[in-house]
Amino acid sequence: MASEAFQLLLEEARKVHARYPVLHEFCPFPTDLEPLDTEPMHLPCADRVYAETDLECTELAGFRDAFIKAGPDAFWRETYKETNIGQDFLDRFACYGLISESGGWISKQMLGFFVYMPPGLYYPWHHHPAEELYFVIAGEGEFMRDGEAPMILREGDACFHKSNQPHALETHDMPIMAYVLWRNHFDVKPVLTEREVNP
Ligand SMILES: [Fe+2]
Repeated sequence: MASEAFQLLLEEARKVHARYPVLHEFCPFPTDLEPLDTEPMHLPCADRVYAETDLECTELAGFRDAFIKAGPDAFWRETYKETNIGQDFLDRFACYGLISESGGWISKQMLGFFVYMPPGLYYPWHHHPAEELYFVIAGEGEFMRDGEAPMILREGDACFHKSNQPHALETHDMPIMAYVLWRNHFDVKPVLTEREVNP
């Protein structure tokens, strides 16, 4: 049984999907959700989320706050633990799942995660077979995609990543919080792109 904070977060996500075409056009809100029991897993990066004061947004403030409130009940992920990405990145890049195999609910239709990055963090080029949509909840970041011009995105903006299209994300003066959706090929984790990619 999901905690009350997770239930509220799911309801916020459902409302935001209904309100923003970019989300429901990428994937309608799942109709096959099955609750998944997991023990919370804390990581030091989660404490940075709780201490953050610069996650600016207006319309999505309820979604932002629900994400932070559900954090203590979440299984915080270590997606890049087995890579050479470095301890600094692991300590500062924060992510947990709402619709995922690591907690919240399971769906065959899409995955949904939350990502937080503090200011001045570079998330190196990576790729995965799943198609992906980054939807910015608060703050801002520079989104890079192979073959396309970089973009600075803020609250309500979205960035689509094609299957296996290398992409990277960098924060500058502001932190960022984003809602990340995957469709198709859920079973393959992201891998760091080994070549240097130029837009
Ligand atoms: Fe990605």
